[in-house]
This record gives sequence, C-alpha cells and structure tokens, in this order.
Amino acid sequence: MDNILVIGSSGQIGSELVMALRKIYGNEHVFATDIKQPTKEIRESGPFQILDVLDFKNLMHFVVRYKITQIYNLAAVLSGNAEKIPLQAWDINMKALMNTLEVARQSDAKKLFWPSSIAVFGPTTPRYNTPQLTVMEPNTVYGISKLAGERWGEYYYRRYNVDFRSVRYPGLISYKTEPGGGTTDYAVEIFYDALAKGTYQCFLKEDTALPMMFMDDAIENTIKLMEVDSSRLTHRSAYNMAGISFDPKQLAEEIKKHIPAFTITYKPDFRQPIAESWPASIDDSVSQQDWGLKTTYDLPKMTKVMLEKIREKQKK
Ligand code: SER
Repeated sequence: MDNILVIGSSGQIGSELVMALRKIYGNEHVFATDIKQPTKEIRESGPFQILDVLDFKNLMHFVVRYKITQIYNLAAVLSGNAEKIPLQAWDINMKALMNTLEVARQSDAKKLFWPSSIAVFGPTTPRYNTPQLTVMEPNTVYGISKLAGERWGEYYYRRYNVDFRSVRYPGLISYKTEPGGGTTDYAVEIFYDALAKGTYQCFLKEDTALPMMFMDDAIENTIKLMEVDSSRLTHRSAYNMAGISFDPKQLAEEIKKHIPAFTITYKPDFRQPIAESWPASIDDSVSQQDWGLKTTYDLPKMTKVMLEKIREKQKK
C-alpha cells in the first residue's frame, strides 16, 4: 500500500491534488503538509501537519515515521514574486527540491513528483508550438530554478534510481485556492473581479497569449503520469503540457458572453516581459504518446465553470 506525502498542500495545486489523491488511495494514506494552514476540506478529511520542506531532518523523520512511498513536492516561490527577491527565491526553490531528492534517495519514498513550468523556456525558444526538446534559455529566476530542477531530477533518476517525474505546467486556472505571485494569475483574478466589480484591470497587454490549463485537467494528468509504468517514460526531465492558449482579450470576450457589461482595461507591469519571454503555445505530443496526456477543458467550458463556482463562493 502506498503512503503519499504532499508538500505544499495548502497552495493552489496542493489543495486540490490532496483531495483527488485521497479519493484514490484512501484518506489516511495521503499526508498533507505545508507551512500554512490547509483548507477546511483537507483538515477534516485526513492527516495534516505543519512541515517545512527546507528542514531536511524533520522531512526525513516524517517520511520514515509514516512509511512514505511517494512524494509530491509543490512548494515554490512563483515567477512574479521571485523577481522581487531573486536570491531568496533561488535558495527556497532549489533547497526545497534538493531536500526531497535527497530524501527520496535515502528512503523508501522513491517516487517523486515535482512540477516544472513553461517558465523553463525563454526568449530564444520557438514561441509557437514549442516542442519537448528545444532551446531553453530562461531569463527569470523562477525559470532558471525550474530548468536547473529538471536537470537535477533527471540526474537523480540516472545516478540514484529516484523515480523522478515532472511536467511543465502551463498557467493553472482554478477556483478553490487562489495562486500567489505568478505571471499567469491574471487569468484567475479576472473571474473574481468580473463577478464582484464587473471590471478588471489586467497587468498584461491584451494580445499576450499564454498556455493555460484548468485545474481538473492538470490534476488528472499529474496523477496519470505518476501511475503510468516507468518503462513508458522516455523523458526524465519534465514533460510538455499544452492546455489551451489564449490572450487576455480573448478571455475577456468569453466572459462577456456571460456578463455582457463586463469591461477590461490594460496596465502592463513588470510581469509583461516575463510573459513575453514564455511560449504562446506548446506541443505536447510526446506526453500524449508516452503516458496518455489528455485534456477536456476548452476556453468556453473553463470560463463557464469558473464563473459558476466563484459565483457560488461569493454568495456564501
Ligand atoms: N503559473 C506560473 C507563474 O506564473 C508559471 O509556472 O509563475
């Protein structure tokens, strides 16, 4: 029986991933940990403990004590926030990964998921239909840490047999827990403001297209990658994930179909150059072949669900 540790369980991905894993593996087998308090749902459905991934001894102790066999490490400082504290962000992002790689090497928790990002690509990468293997010269602290992380993950796989698996997430769109400090966050904020104020001021220009994905698709495919037989994986860095590509103007038009009076204004800030350095669309055919990546949300379906769910939340 697998025992799974989720690090960063109070964040945007963790708060949904824990619940999905508990459904599959049983509540008591999925250990949620974070340095922040979790959602009510997580606290009430199974084990939660405050745990700092930067504290190697405690992390190792936890893994041995609870006989952990799989780790999902989701702790990270996102792209926008990382630019404000470059050295600290580098330290945190790398230390968090290296601690889990070392724990995996030294314990029975050999299977490790760690998210990479479209931020591993940079201004010299082909911007449209970015392939799995291509030029990677990221110019943000976050992107540099993700690219270095991919290389370390593959290294630990080859050298120490750590079963490292990763995907390059596009911007993730969800309604349960808000993201914090990312460049793709506009595509979540816009829904809250559209419903609460009828207007949104966007920090990216109207034609800045980026790849995005609805959280349900992201979670389902993450678990799929973790469950597939190891022999099928031809890449041990991180797999491309395309999702849906759109720009702020297209998203605003889609929202207007539901809220006709909705207006949007544009005031690009320091995140504009970050977004411009990333791909506009991704080719994920290798992921489809290797482990069966499949998504079901397009822009209209995602918009409809986001508006419905956030409206329900705002009513409560
Ligand atoms: N969504 C992330 C960010 O914007 C990218 O991985 O930082």
